[in-house]
Amino acid sequence: MTQPTIESILHEDRMFPPPEEFSAQAELKSLEEYRRLYQEAAANPEKFWADLADKELQWFQKWDKVLDWQPPFAKWFVGGKINISYNCLDRHLTTWRKNKAAIIWQGEPGDSRTLTYAQLHREVCQMANVIKQLGVKKGDVVGIYMPMIPEAAVAMLACARIGAPHTVIFGGFSAEALKDRLKDAEAKLVITADGGWRKDAIVPLKEQVDKALGDNAVPSVDNVLVVKRTGNKIHMEPGRDHWWQDLQANAKADCPAEPMDSEDMLFILYTSGTTGKPKGVVHTTGGYNLYTHVTTKWAFDLKDTDVYWCTADIGWITGHSYIVYGPLSNGATTVMYEGAPRSSNPGCMWDVVEKYGVTIFYTAPTAIRAFIKMGEHLPKARDLSSLRLLGTVGEPINPEAWMWYYRVIGSSKCPIVDTWWQTETGGFMITPLPGAIPTKPGSATLPFPGIIADVVDLEGNPVGDNEGGYLVIKHPWPSMMRTVYGDPDRFRRTYWEHIPPQDGKYLYFAGDGARRDKDGYFWVMGRVDDVINVSGHRLGTMEIESALVSHPAVAEAAVVGKPDDLRGEAIVAFVTLEDSYRASEQLEKELMQHVVGEIGALARPAEIRFSEDLPKTRSGKIMRRLLRNLAAGQEIAGDTSTLQDRGVLDKLRGGA
Ligand code: WTA
Repeated sequence: MTQPTIESILHEDRMFPPPEEFSAQAELKSLEEYRRLYQEAAANPEKFWADLADKELQWFQKWDKVLDWQPPFAKWFVGGKINISYNCLDRHLTTWRKNKAAIIWQGEPGDSRTLTYAQLHREVCQMANVIKQLGVKKGDVVGIYMPMIPEAAVAMLACARIGAPHTVIFGGFSAEALKDRLKDAEAKLVITADGGWRKDAIVPLKEQVDKALGDNAVPSVDNVLVVKRTGNKIHMEPGRDHWWQDLQANAKADCPAEPMDSEDMLFILYTSGTTGKPKGVVHTTGGYNLYTHVTTKWAFDLKDTDVYWCTADIGWITGHSYIVYGPLSNGATTVMYEGAPRSSNPGCMWDVVEKYGVTIFYTAPTAIRAFIKMGEHLPKARDLSSLRLLGTVGEPINPEAWMWYYRVIGSSKCPIVDTWWQTETGGFMITPLPGAIPTKPGSATLPFPGIIADVVDLEGNPVGDNEGGYLVIKHPWPSMMRTVYGDPDRFRRTYWEHIPPQDGKYLYFAGDGARRDKDGYFWVMGRVDDVINVSGHRLGTMEIESALVSHPAVAEAAVVGKPDDLRGEAIVAFVTLEDSYRASEQLEKELMQHVVGEIGALARPAEIRFSEDLPKTRSGKIMRRLLRNLAAGQEIAGDTSTLQDRGVLDKLRGGA
C-alpha cells in the first residue's frame, strides 16, 4: 500500500453520509446544522467561545475580556480564574459521576485498574500534596517521564492543580533528549517510574533519568519522584530520589485546586521544528480547557455511556488533549493502555476493545496500516460490536487504509473522524462532526466551528479549488500555542511571518501542504518543511543531522524522509565521513545506535548512505529536495541548475 499522492486523492470521490441512527442521537445532526453553527461562530468568534466557556466550564471568577489579540500574541478570557484539574475532577464529584470510571487502565503484563472520579480525585490530591512537600511552588516546572500508567495522568492533573506547569517527555526519548528538555524548561522536579512495560520488556526509565541528571547536568532539578511500577532494581540517590508509594501513604487526600489565571501556563510540550533544537510549545489554562472540552464533546459525539479509547501516549499532544484533559473535563470514561501490538500478542488491541466494550476508538494511520498487515482474522476473532465511532490522527490517511478501517473495524457502520491538528493548535482544527458531516476517505473534511482555515500561496493569496497550497488559520482560537518557551521571536518567525502579514493581518502557518476541493473539504498532504512524520511521530531532519554530526566519524549529514508503506515515512541519512574513517556496515550500525542514544529509538535511521560529497548549491546549502528524490529511488525532479557540482549526483546514484 502506498502513501496518498495528489493523483490518488484527486480521484477519490467516495462519500459516506453519517448513518441515520448516528445522526439522530448526535449533538449536531446535519450538515445544515453544522453550517449554521459555523456561520454563527465565524461571524462573531468571541461571542461563540464566550458562550461556550460560560456553559461548559466552571470558573472561579469570570473574565473581563474574551480575547486580547496583539498579533501574534493572544490572550483568551483575560482576568478569568479557573483550574483545569478542578474542571476535570471536582465538579464531577457533586454529580452521579463521582462513582463513574474516569480511567480504565490496562497494563502490559495483563494487570488492570479502574479509577472512579472520586478515586482519581483522591490520588491527584495526594500527589499534589507530595509535590508541594518536595518544594514545588506555583509556576515551577515539573518534568514527567512516565510509562502509560494511571500515575502519568495523576501527575499531570496534580501539577495543574497546584499551578505547576508540566512538561511531559515521551518515555521513548533517550537520556540526552530528556536532559535537553529538562534543561530548557528549567524543571524543578522530575516524576518518573522505576520502569515501564513495552512489548514484553522493561523500559528502564529511571536509569535514563539518572543519566540525564548525572554530573549535575540539570542543576534546577532538586528532586525525583519515582513510581514503583515494574519492581526492577534501580538506584535511588539519597536526598534526591523518593518513592511515590512511600510518600503517598502519609499524604493528605485533600488539596484545593489553585485558582489560576486563565493565561497562566498549563504546560510546555516539546516538538520538532526545522532547526536542531526542539521547540517548547506553551499552552495556557482557560482557552485550552475550553477548546479541548468542546472538541472532544462534538467531534467524538461524546455521551456519558461511552467507553472512549485513544491509543496515543501521554508524551504527545494527543495524549494530553484527548486522553487526559478533554475526556476528563467532559466526565467521560477514558481507557489507557500500556501495551502495543507485538508478535507474542498481535490481537491485543482488539482484546482491549472487547474486554471493556470500547465505543469510541481513536488511533493513527500508521497503526491502522500495521493492523492491515497483521491480518483481518485478528479483529474478526473478537467481538467489536460495541464500537460506534472511529478516529484517526497524526498523518494523512491513505484512502485504502481508511476503507479497511471502516469496513473491518467499524463493520461499515461507524463514522470515521479524521482529525487534523498539531501540538501547536492544542486541539482539532479540521475534523468531521460525525453526526453532521459526510466523510470522504482521506479528507479531514471541514473546519471546526470557530476555525477559519484556508489554503493559500506564499503571499497569502487563496488558491483555487483543488490547487495545492499552504494550510493557514486566519483567526486566533482559544487553544492556540501562546509562544515558544523562552523564545517569542522564534514563535513569531516560524508561525506568523512565514507568510508575510499584510495590512496587519496575520496568518498562522501550519507547515502543512493542503488542497481544498469544490465541496470545501480539506485534503492535507503532509509537511512542507524539514519535518518528517515517522509512524505518526514528528521529527525534525535537523535534529537527526545534529545527532549524526556529534559522532566523531561524521563530517556532514543530510537527513530526508522516503515514503514507507508502514511508517508513512522512513528516515534516510546521507553521511560524509571524516578522513580517517571508512564506510562499513559496522559503522552504519554504530551511527544508527548513536542517533538512538542522542534522541531515542523513534529517530533511528532506516538507512544510512555514505557518500564522498553531498549535493549543494553554489552558496553551500544542501539540496535536500534532490536527496529526497534519490532516497525514494525517483528521477531527479525540477531544476538542478543551482547545483554546484553535478558529478555528485551521479556518484550518489551509483551508491558511491
Ligand atoms: C500531521 C499531532 C493529515 C500534520 C496531533 C501536522 C495530519 C502534524 C493529521 C502535527 C491528519 C496530524 N491528516 N496530517 N488528520 N493529523 N497530521 O504536532 O503534518 O505531533 O502538521 O500533532 O501531523 O503533528 P503533532
